[in-house]
Amino acid sequence: MNKISFTHFTYLPMSMRVLFTMVLLVFGTGYLMAMIQVWESHAGRDGKEMLTAKDLMIAYSGNPEGTKLESALRGPMADMLPPEKREVIFAWLHEGAKTEEFAGKINPIMQEHCVMCHSPAVNPHLPDLTNQDGVMKVAAKDTGMTVPTLVRVSHIHLFSITFIFFITGFIFTHAYLRPVWIKCLAIAIPFLTILTDIGSWYLTKVWTGFAWMVIGSGALMGLSFAFMWLTSIYQLWFYKLPENVAEEEGKLPGVYR
Ligand code: HEC
Repeated sequence: MNKISFTHFTYLPMSMRVLFTMVLLVFGTGYLMAMIQVWESHAGRDGKEMLTAKDLMIAYSGNPEGTKLESALRGPMADMLPPEKREVIFAWLHEGAKTEEFAGKINPIMQEHCVMCHSPAVNPHLPDLTNQDGVMKVAAKDTGMTVPTLVRVSHIHLFSITFIFFITGFIFTHAYLRPVWIKCLAIAIPFLTILTDIGSWYLTKVWTGFAWMVIGSGALMGLSFAFMWLTSIYQLWFYKLPENVAEEEGKLPGVYR
């Protein structure tokens, strides 16, 4: 036995197959939740309900026609207040966000619907909407996510995605798939696309067309995850290795490239 080899799922101890299956079930659920989260936090920023490339452009690079406040109220913060009060805020923004109208028109809405979360005492990482200065900051021209925010989100993503795909990829190495390069490609893609995905967040600030790269990277990563997940679950429990494989590939039963 002089080849680099692995053991197929069906030759692993039952306990290990149960472990792999449970990890995949939880990761699969986690992936769905992550997709819902992407939708929730970006869809609607451009005024349309669907998640579009424009939404991502606004999220990362800002919106020359809009403000952070308006994007948030059309997107993730839309349900925080009744629609007629939203219109009051939009009208105020479109008329130039006059500071003299703040106390009478805007502040009462903020106090009633926003400050329970948007107060430094509650969450120092959210825009402070308890006073005029804080609100004026999000009422200024929207320049998108700041670089420090991107750096924070990037490092969390880089570490957590590597962790998830190391485990998913490791489980998947026990699958039998030919040609071998397909297997290697499925394992490599998530790591390459996390780099192009995160890189494009920053590049979208320079040229908004990179929003498509964010979408393409995310789609490829998802496909690769689905492929490894389905192949692993299928081969763990429902697959029978072709009989001639053992003789062709290795001398020990169940050991393959
Ligand atoms: C239940 C808590 C909660 C309430 C109530 C709430 N927000 Fe938020 N808000 C958040 C959280 C959490 C975030 C950050 C996560 C996100 O962007 O989805 C946020 C983000 C924001 C942002 C920043 C978006 C960005 O792109 O950085 C703005 C602006 C905002 N909210 C405005 C409002 C306004 C105006 C109200 C009141 C009508 C409001 N929020 C009510 C929790 C809340």
